[in-house]
Amino acid sequence: MHRDVFGSAGDFITSPEISQMFGEMLGVWVVNEWLNCYSGKAIQIVELGPGRGTLADDMLRVFSQFPEIASNISLHLVEVSPALSKLQVIKLVGEGDESNSEQKTLNSNSSENECEGPYRQEISKYGPQISWYRNLSDVPEGLSCYIAHEFLDALPIHKFHKTDKGWREVMIDVDPEKDGLRFVLAPSDTPASKAYLQVTSSEERKNLEVCPGAGIVVQEITKRIAKDGGFSLLADYGHSGEKGGTFRAFKNHKLHDPLEDPGTADLTSDVDFSYLKRFTSEAVSVFGPITQEKFLTNMGIGYRLQALLQSSKQEQWADLISGYKMLTAPEQMGERFKFFSITRKHDNDYVPAGFSDLHVKDDTANSS
Ligand SMILES: C[S@@+](CC[C@H](N)C(=O)[O-])C[C@H]1O[C@@H](n2cnc3c(N)ncnc32)[C@H](O)[C@@H]1O
Repeated sequence: MHRDVFGSAGDFITSPEISQMFGEMLGVWVVNEWLNCYSGKAIQIVELGPGRGTLADDMLRVFSQFPEIASNISLHLVEVSPALSKLQVIKLVGEGDESNSEQKTLNSNSSENECEGPYRQEISKYGPQISWYRNLSDVPEGLSCYIAHEFLDALPIHKFHKTDKGWREVMIDVDPEKDGLRFVLAPSDTPASKAYLQVTSSEERKNLEVCPGAGIVVQEITKRIAKDGGFSLLADYGHSGEKGGTFRAFKNHKLHDPLEDPGTADLTSDVDFSYLKRFTSEAVSVFGPITQEKFLTNMGIGYRLQALLQSSKQEQWADLISGYKMLTAPEQMGERFKFFSITRKHDNDYVPAGFSDLHVKDDTANSS
């Protein structure tokens, strides 16, 4: 909420911060879906949890190469952190504009719960208007593309543990033996275990997490797309219901005890895509999850790397190639990160770009 947590001075690094190629591939994906399904129509690009604004910046730069879509988009950022929304203004509006744009700050005195509509509006350096919101429900309805990268993993979870007496919610308590907190098991069912836990007798996991907030976001996106049309891309590290015990904290790029110094570390848990699927409906089409390696390769990241190598100085080649490898290599981010898409219901066998079985194998980095 209060500081820049990205990069070498922060707690972690994300794909858009590793290489511009990541945001460019997502931008190309949006252009392609719009051209295929909504060409000529005005569309809202809604990004949930935009961080430093780097992904939005790289996508806007791609859109600016396609005048037809560039004149039809508006950007809508859902962000709760005051510190990060300031960084987003600087990145997307331009250096120095943060200090000059007080008059464009809306609802600045309202509390989180009171706010409806945007709390800030600006014109981006690329032309399209940008609006900031605290909740997805504040974003106007209408034809939209929803993007969420490393957003769902940041939402609060409930932890559950299987005991001889059945599943119990893991709670947080004051540790009487030290000046700190500890995990404890609820002695019996809790409202959360009754409401959220859906396990069968064959469940083999001993620990699992449920993220109701992520389910609500997916339900809202599904409802909006079913009503107004559109498409979405949800990308995060995650699994399809086979993993558990993934709740953890990061501080200064190292694993950190989540109960130590609360409020000073990044808390996260892997996204359960099988859980998210339960919040979609027959009224939309659902694709994935597929691995980041497959999605980015299908979108042509290898060709983009070649083009960048050709147009850049030799001293930049190592960074470009290591960024490409970090994003796509299975042992780095290529396998653990997944892409999931909800689109309007397609009557035919339409598959969004990147999700088809086409898997363009390329040896770009090696041959370079
Ligand atoms: C891990 S960062 C990801 C940032 C960016 N998408 C990226 O990939 O670099 C999570 C982002 O979600 C925002 N965020 C976390 N919880 C949120 C919530 N409940 N509502 C809106 N934004 C939230 C954070 O402030 C941050 O911008």
